[in-house]
Amino acid sequence: QQSLRRGTGSSASQLNSRNFSSSTPHRKVAVLGAAGGIGQSLSLLMKLNPLVSQLSLYDIAGTPGVAADVSHINTRSQVMGYVGEDQLGKALEGCDLVIIPAGVPRKPGMTRDDLFNINAGIVKGLCTAISKYCPNALVNMISNPVNSTVPIASEVFKKSGTYDERRLFGVTTLDVVRAKTFYAGKANVNVAEVNVPVVGGHAGITILPLFSQATPQANILSDEVLTALTKRTQDGGTEVVEAKAGKGSATLSMAYAGALFADACLKGLNGVPDVVECSFVQSNITELPFFASKVRLGKNGVEEVLGLGALSVYEKQGLEALLPELKSSIEKGIKFANQS
Ligand code: NAD
Ligand code: LMR
Repeated sequence: QQSLRRGTGSSASQLNSRNFSSSTPHRKVAVLGAAGGIGQSLSLLMKLNPLVSQLSLYDIAGTPGVAADVSHINTRSQVMGYVGEDQLGKALEGCDLVIIPAGVPRKPGMTRDDLFNINAGIVKGLCTAISKYCPNALVNMISNPVNSTVPIASEVFKKSGTYDERRLFGVTTLDVVRAKTFYAGKANVNVAEVNVPVVGGHAGITILPLFSQATPQANILSDEVLTALTKRTQDGGTEVVEAKAGKGSATLSMAYAGALFADACLKGLNGVPDVVECSFVQSNITELPFFASKVRLGKNGVEEVLGLGALSVYEKQGLEALLPELKSSIEKGIKFANQS
């Protein structure tokens, strides 16, 4: 098993010279699960990001091919492919940001929690390695069930004495991406200008889009439309799982969402002001230890967890309804990490 060193980063393409200068900080980003459905597209999108100087692609199989392919793109970053557990340390050493889309996806009829038995162990192993090889990296958790895998990661980091709540993120950006798209369609506004916070967690009713705070507010949406928009956002993942009919879950839209969130994290690390995204993080804005809400990103990760703002009666009911399920998913993750 050989690691592959690909790309020299020495020839400045037009894209490179337009988007980064010699003062742009060096940033090493790892994708764990890089040969998978999300991983491959996400690796491509991270290769296009001029904030990345080193791109480390890790999987248990298939990464040499993905790394060789992506490395031919004439953008800033050097690409390295790592395969198999004995190369995980090298993949992680010196990372500023680790993105984790490793694990099995849903098939029709499954809930995200049905993935727990396999993915919990995968995430635990990867986070143990992160605490050893790059304890200061920001971690973007994509692997499902996010409502449990983020608490698992926090417990692993606590046990190794490396936990910093500002550096651990559950990626809920796809919920925001969906809410924006669906809202723009119904409100008949330019989708590129739309903002919709999505709070709670990342599974079924724990996904709570706050359409009462959506901008621009072009026309009044009926209660019926708002209910349908909320349900479609909550069931967006299932919509894709069913359409793929056994061939997995969202990969392309997730890679886009994951790349957006990673870019926001890198901007925060680089000191860009006012970078705000929704994410599932350690939080005290509800009684639960983790909750997704708007978060201000900075040089150390989470700079500020922003409050929920004013909620409609419908959203308040949604919030009350989601708390028990989210609580039990969080507790399941914490229990798993501490018993095994
Ligand atoms: P996939 O099966 O196509 O890819 C998963 C990859 O993970 C595979 O290449 C596999 O080899 C790799 N892998 C397995 N064990 C590993 C380990 N120990 N170390 C490194 N890599 C390992 O699946 P996918 O469609 O890319 O989905 C991946 C995960 O992302 C699933 O759990 C899915 O539910 C989740 N997901 C989350 C969101 C979200 O919004 N957070 C959206 C879509 C999918
Ligand atoms: C999604 O929202 O698309 C992901 O969580 C994948 C899934 O299983 O729905």
